[in-house]
Amino acid sequence: MGENFVARNILITGAAGEIGSVLRKGLAGRFDLLRLTDIKPLGPAGIGEEVCEADMQDQGAMASVMKDIDCVVHLAGIPLEDSWENILPANVIGCAHVFEAARIAGVRRVVFASSNHAIGFYHRDQRIDANVVTRPDSRYGVSKVFGEAIGRLYADKYGLSVSCLRIGSFRSRPEDRRQLMTWISPRDTVHLVERCIVHPDYHYFIVYGVSNNDQNMWDNSEVEWLGYRPRDNAEKFALDIMARGEEEDPVAKAYHGGSFCSAEFSVTS
Ligand SMILES: NC(=O)c1ccc[n+]([C@@H]2O[C@H](COP(=O)([O-])OP(=O)(O)OC[C@H]3O[C@@H](n4cnc5c(N)ncnc54)[C@H](O)[C@@H]3O)[C@@H](O)[C@H]2O)c1
Repeated sequence: MGENFVARNILITGAAGEIGSVLRKGLAGRFDLLRLTDIKPLGPAGIGEEVCEADMQDQGAMASVMKDIDCVVHLAGIPLEDSWENILPANVIGCAHVFEAARIAGVRRVVFASSNHAIGFYHRDQRIDANVVTRPDSRYGVSKVFGEAIGRLYADKYGLSVSCLRIGSFRSRPEDRRQLMTWISPRDTVHLVERCIVHPDYHYFIVYGVSNNDQNMWDNSEVEWLGYRPRDNAEKFALDIMARGEEEDPVAKAYHGGSFCSAEFSVTS
C-alpha cells in the first residue's frame, strides 16, 4: 500500500455492540473523526464523532458511510453460532458489502474482527500461530474464514491494507476455564485495534486477539512488528474460576474452540 499510511477518519461498523462500545470510548479523541455505524441505535454523537444507523445488507447505505474514510474497523455481524439463514446474510453477504463499499470508496485499510472459531478444531495440546490451515468449528467460524479470505483477496488484488483479528474471548474478566486461555481484556482490545489502525505500512496479516495470558495457546511472535504488547493476564482470575470446579465436556475440552466444537458434534469412532 506504500509507506506512511496515516489514519485520520475511522469508521467502526457494529459500533453499538460490546466491542464497538469499548472502542468508541477507548479511541475517543485519537483521530480526526470516528464515524460509528450500526443497525441499532448509537445515541447522540460526541465530539469528534458521527453516528449513522445503517444496515450492512444495504449496499447503498454502506457506500455512503465510507465517504472520506481512511480505515474501517469491521465488527458488525452475528458474534456467535447461529443458523445458516442468519449467518449467511449478516456475516458473509454483509461482510462482502463492507469490503466492496470500502474498495469502491477508496478506503485504504480494513481491520476485520475475525475469531478464534476460524481455527477452533485444533487440539489444545497444540500451540498454533496464524500460518496454520483454518479449521472452523461452526457455521460462525466458517463465516470468519470467509472474512479472512475476502480480506486477503482485496489486499492482493486491489491493494487494500487488511488485518484480521482472531479475537479470543472479549470480556471484562474471564468467566470460565477456557477463557483463562482465550481471554482478551477491554484494555488490550483497544490497544490491539489501535495498533492495527495506526501502523504505517502493512499489506495483510492475521493476529490473535488475546491478552498476555499464562495459558495462551496462540503464538503472535510473527507479528511482533505490529507493536501489540498486551498487559492483562487471565491468570489473575484463575483461583476464583478453578474454585468453581466446573468441567467442560470432553469434546469442548479437547479443542481450542471449546463448546463451539461440541455443539452438534456427531463424530463416532
Ligand atoms: N465478543 C467476543 O468475544 C468476540 C470474539 C471473537 C470475535 N468477535 C467478533 O467481534 C465482532 C464484535 O463482537 P461483539 O461481541 O461486539 O458483538 P455484538 O453482537 O455485541 O456487536 C455486533 C454489532 O453488529 C451489529 N449488527 C449486526 N448485524 C448488523 C447489520 N446487518 N447491519 C449493521 N449492524 C449489524 C449489531 O447490532 C451489534 O451491535 C463480531 O464480528 C464478532 O464476531 C467477538
